[in-house]
Amino acid sequence: MSESFDVIIIGSGPGGYVCAIRAAQLGLKTACVEKRATLGGTCLNIGCIPSKALLQSSEEFEKAAHALKDHGILIDSVKLDLAKMQASKQDVVTANTKGVEFLFRKNKVTWLKGTGKITAPGQIDVDGTAYTAKNIVIATGSESVPLPGVTVDEKQIVTSTGALELDKVPGHLVVIGGGVIGLELGSVWQRLGAKVTVVEFLDRIALGMDTELATNFQRILQKQGMTFRLGSKVTGATTGADGVALTVEPVKGGAAETLKADIVLVAIGRRPYTEGLGLDTVGVALDERKRIKVDGHWATNVPGIYAIGDVIAGPMLAHKGEEEGVAIAERLAGQAGHVNYDAIPSVVYTWPEVASVGKTEDELKAAGVAYSVGKFPFTANGRARAMGDTDGFVKLLADKTTDRLLGAHILGPDAGHLIAELTLAIEFGASAEDVARTCHAHPTLSEAVKEAALAVDKRALHI
Ligand code: FAD
Ligand code: NAI
Repeated sequence: MSESFDVIIIGSGPGGYVCAIRAAQLGLKTACVEKRATLGGTCLNIGCIPSKALLQSSEEFEKAAHALKDHGILIDSVKLDLAKMQASKQDVVTANTKGVEFLFRKNKVTWLKGTGKITAPGQIDVDGTAYTAKNIVIATGSESVPLPGVTVDEKQIVTSTGALELDKVPGHLVVIGGGVIGLELGSVWQRLGAKVTVVEFLDRIALGMDTELATNFQRILQKQGMTFRLGSKVTGATTGADGVALTVEPVKGGAAETLKADIVLVAIGRRPYTEGLGLDTVGVALDERKRIKVDGHWATNVPGIYAIGDVIAGPMLAHKGEEEGVAIAERLAGQAGHVNYDAIPSVVYTWPEVASVGKTEDELKAAGVAYSVGKFPFTANGRARAMGDTDGFVKLLADKTTDRLLGAHILGPDAGHLIAELTLAIEFGASAEDVARTCHAHPTLSEAVKEAALAVDKRALHI
């Protein structure tokens, strides 16, 4: 007879593994199916963690090579040991994936190694072995969107996976797609010495980011040396011994041009991954973008089958999947799991960083909501001056009538850490006045947040 579980989760990314831990904590007999040799999914193996490791290392290199001299620290010759940097990244990845293995053992989650296929409601096949489950949670994540005419070989034409593994700094890296992956990994290789050109279809970068931030962000990246070809599309690529020749055309028409690159990174978005899962067999419905359709409680149209993370609608972010993982586990255990989709922060880990939570100004305008804006630049923040990192500003958006915080956007040093306070404020339904009246330690970057909150009521003190 096949082994039976209360819940089997397919996929061990941040959605799946967190769901498994929480379900086991709540006393459910839990298994997680993962086909990769290590746990942690895209995020830990080929996404968030390795990219942040390389962003951190390349930032240290950039500081040693350039920025430290502004602090009176002169280093004669700074050399890059890329093999060591890559090995250090791999150590970080391994520590994290092993960490999840440890947490599975600690919480008595069974790792079913192999590829999971749903054969019927409550029935899963893992590489030829059948299991039964009262509930199935699909957390199979996403994969890179391919670009017709530009065939990925993960050597000369790479996705983010190949871009994290380069063993040589490219002379010229062309990034197709001016989104989060392109800007983060473009920054890594630019800091290490590559010339970086970003080819973006739209006439702006970072779609979805508050437009004012995106415009300033692009300006800062240009100052760092990144080149942008906006309103352009790549229609073909030829690889050869001397690199890649890309055909680039203006979106609005005009002559095509050839752009030569040593490495091309295709980063035009990600799409849900459900290959081989057996969704057709059991009749799980997808939406128009091939995402698994779920209701407000992550239930698919098939009783007993749920889905979370990148494979359903919403921002493709690790922490969004984690929140959903916890919430569905709690619901399966009879509790009232819930996710507040209005308070999910997003961070671009470049330098400066860009962090946002809640509505953008563009969204408020489109929705006809009356709002007040409070802004404060890092040039007027003492700590930012001491750090030598004065690029950027904090921008808060509050309801014109009630003063309730609706959106918070930060372009600047450590924006990713600073956004936590504002996420909490939005979660608690705080007003700009609440943030403005909260004492912030001096001298810290967080004082810029307080000043922006004061600025909502036109009473900032230090500008
Ligand atoms: P995934 O992490 O994609 O995990 C799905 C897992 O399911 C995989 O391990 C896969 O092998 C497994 N699987 C699939 N099908 C089967 C099957 N049939 N049987 C068994 N196993 C299966 N997000 C952030 O929030 N912050 C960041 O800084 C960030 N950086 C990123 C950088 C890069 C380069 C990339 C590519 C992504 C980044 N993301 C980041 C996005 C983040 O990685 C995803 O949102 C997150 O991993 C989604 O989690 P998930 O659990 O839905 O799926
Ligand atoms: P993205 O959606 O962020 O950006 C893709 C960009 O490519 C868009 O600007 C789009 O206009 C452009 N584009 C689309 N087709 C194009 C074409 N044919 N030619 C030129 N440009 C084209 O997607 P990206 O960067 O691939 O990242 C995927 C997802 O991974 C992100 O949306 C995010 O959810 C997640 N991620 C999150 C990170 C973080 O939180 N720091 C880091 C990296 C990834």
